[in-house]
Amino acid sequence: MCDIDLRKVDEIIDKYQDQDGVLIQLLLDLQSEFNWIPKEAIARVSDRLRIPRSQIFRIASFYKAMSLSPVGKNVVQVCMGTACKVRGAQKILDLIESRLKISQGETTPDMIFSLRRVNCLGCCAMGPVIIINEDYHGCAATEEVDKIFKKYD
Ligand code: FES
Repeated sequence: MCDIDLRKVDEIIDKYQDQDGVLIQLLLDLQSEFNWIPKEAIARVSDRLRIPRSQIFRIASFYKAMSLSPVGKNVVQVCMGTACKVRGAQKILDLIESRLKISQGETTPDMIFSLRRVNCLGCCAMGPVIIINEDYHGCAATEEVDKIFKKYD
C-alpha cells in the first residue's frame, strides 16, 4: 500500500526528465517535499528514469540531508559526547525518551518529534547540549526540558 501522493513524485521527476547527473538534486527535492524519501518514491524514480533501486538507496543512505525513514516535524538531537555525558546527558536523554514515549532513533506516531543521539556538537562548554531543529539549548538541566519542549509542542 502506498500512502504518499505519487503525483508529487511525478512532478519532481518531470522537472529533471532527460537531464543527466540530477539524481542527487531530485532526491533532495523529494526529501524536501515529504521530509523523507519513501520507498514508493524510490521505486517510481527507478522505474521512470531507469536507475537501479540499489543505486538510489545507496545515495539516499549516504547523504545526511536525506532520510529513508519518516522524520518528525521537530528533530531533537541530544549530544552524547564525552563532555556532555559527564555533565548528565544520559539523564536528559532518558527524560526526553520518557516524555516523548519513544527511544532514540524513533519518531513519535503523530510525527511531531524525531529523537536522535549525536556525538560532540563542538560546543562542549555549553553541555549538556540538545538541539531542536536549528536551536541549540545548552546546560539543559532536567527541570528545563519541559520548558524547552513547550515551545515545540
Ligand atoms: S560533548 Fe557535547 S558538545 Fe561536545
